[in-house]
Amino acid sequence: ESYDMGGHDTYMHKEIHEQVDAVDRVLRGRIDDRFSTVHLGGLNLDAREARGVRRVKILGCGSAYHTGLIGAQLIEELARIPADAEPASEFRYRNPVVDPDTLYIAVSQSGETYDTLAAVQELKRKGARVLGVINVVGSAIARETDGGVYVHAGPEVCVVSTKCFTNTAVAFALLALHLGRIRDLSVADGKRIIAGLRKLPEQIAEVLRGEEEIKKLATEYANAKSMMFVGRVRGYPVAREASLKLKEVSYVHAEAYPASELKHGPLALIEPEVPTVAVLPDDDLLEKNRATLEEIKARSGRILAVAHREQAKADHTIVVPRNEVELDPILMGIPLQLLAYHTALALGRDIDKPRNLAKSVTVE
Ligand code: AGP
Repeated sequence: ESYDMGGHDTYMHKEIHEQVDAVDRVLRGRIDDRFSTVHLGGLNLDAREARGVRRVKILGCGSAYHTGLIGAQLIEELARIPADAEPASEFRYRNPVVDPDTLYIAVSQSGETYDTLAAVQELKRKGARVLGVINVVGSAIARETDGGVYVHAGPEVCVVSTKCFTNTAVAFALLALHLGRIRDLSVADGKRIIAGLRKLPEQIAEVLRGEEEIKKLATEYANAKSMMFVGRVRGYPVAREASLKLKEVSYVHAEAYPASELKHGPLALIEPEVPTVAVLPDDDLLEKNRATLEEIKARSGRILAVAHREQAKADHTIVVPRNEVELDPILMGIPLQLLAYHTALALGRDIDKPRNLAKSVTVE
């Protein structure tokens, strides 16, 4: 992509709409139908080494950390390796145990975030193997890591990350599939995930075609005192990212919780002026999620659901197309980028350069 606005009023809007092509690009040339797997040329991790990995620890900041949460779930589900994500900014200050059988993965759009770079350097000093999932080729973190997966989102100008978030989640799906097929993921499941990945660009286009409707909803919710974002398991990192997106660009206060945690405290905040955005994939937690919607309704809370079908308990539902359940976080995040964008637009915010923020945080 060039740096011109291409007919869009803001880079954020342009970059949200570039996701169809960007996702196509991260997939291109990597799928191997013959063995129902993917080739990741820069990984520098052979099959024997991949089989020896006992844990995966993912590190990143902000949106990159949130894609790490999605990546950890994908790696656990598809490769059956225990995996978790942690803010890179905290990691090195708690004197972490660095285990030789753990594969560390640093996530960064810019590849220049100081906290992430410092975490990588600390790990390298302790002899760990560190891979990168990075957008900017040849960046400081890319140079410091032992190998990795480039995200190929193209230049992201808006301070608020959108297309890079989505592409990073897809890159994690590729990595999880690759590790899975070296370990215990069946050919049939490999094929199923590949078919799902191939559907993503067209499904993203379908979500983006619903922009007018999302714009109307954003105008309706823009005057909220605060917004609550909830989801469970695959929906939870989507809720976390959507809450950050809204805060960054519209300055509307937002909180994100696992839906299961509402009753342990945050339910006290629910009132008509504090609407809830509920991320409700059509998975085996849907019924439990619906019970949460009832709890919110009982406190006169308004609900905007992002789901695979209309939700009777919600005031509004944004319906997203179905894909394989493991890939749900990728598509479900996209309408919420548009919600944040149109909320900021309705409130007259400086969308590409939100106050107090920098695109790349190169200081501690
Ligand atoms: C994203 O919308 C944010 N501006 C911010 O959280 C960002 O993701 C974070 O600073 C990490 O940046 P990086 O991906 O370039 O390392």
